[in-house]
Amino acid sequence: MKDINEEVLRVLITEEQIDARCKELASQIEADYENKNPLLLCLINGSLPFLGNLIKYIRIPMEYDCIRVHSYQGQSSTGNVIVENYNFDKLKGRHIILIEDIIDTGLTLHTLKQMLKSIPIGSVEICSLLNKPGLNQIDVGAKYIGFEIPSEFVIGFGLDYNEQYRNLPYIGIMNPKAIK
Ligand code: IMP
Repeated sequence: MKDINEEVLRVLITEEQIDARCKELASQIEADYENKNPLLLCLINGSLPFLGNLIKYIRIPMEYDCIRVHSYQGQSSTGNVIVENYNFDKLKGRHIILIEDIIDTGLTLHTLKQMLKSIPIGSVEICSLLNKPGLNQIDVGAKYIGFEIPSEFVIGFGLDYNEQYRNLPYIGIMNPKAIK
């Protein structure tokens, strides 16, 4: 059996750490969105495991929806953010929390926030499991961040390398030997 865990150089954030941080983020969201029925807009595919873990701990009324956005190929951004057909009308008047797996250049969230400017929404905030700060990062003003990580390519808990490794239950650094 080929075990994908063997292609991880080292574990950066454990399953338990992710779970504990999701609880903390959920309680911040509860406090900030009472009586607002927030709409958690999950950027798929990468953010699905994060959304699933986070919403278990949110006890206030809320809804979620998914939007398919992509810009990455292999280990780098193409610089071209594509949002697949999404009916933005349903966001009108809503308090939106964008659920993202990782902020790298910030281009994805910046582009999405720009798109939302033309719609009369209630408010928009960002909740990202990871933030990979770098010199060229666009400041997207993320309100909720799970973990700050070093500038390394990470996989697991939804994060992929060419669509693989999303099913690892933790965040890890990929073994360079596994890079194709
Ligand atoms: P940004 O637009 O550069 O902020 O990149 C955001 C997207 O790039 C994320 O949603 C991921 O899909 C992808 N990405 C950025 N860094 C990594 C990484 O270290 N591992 C896997 N995917 C990444």
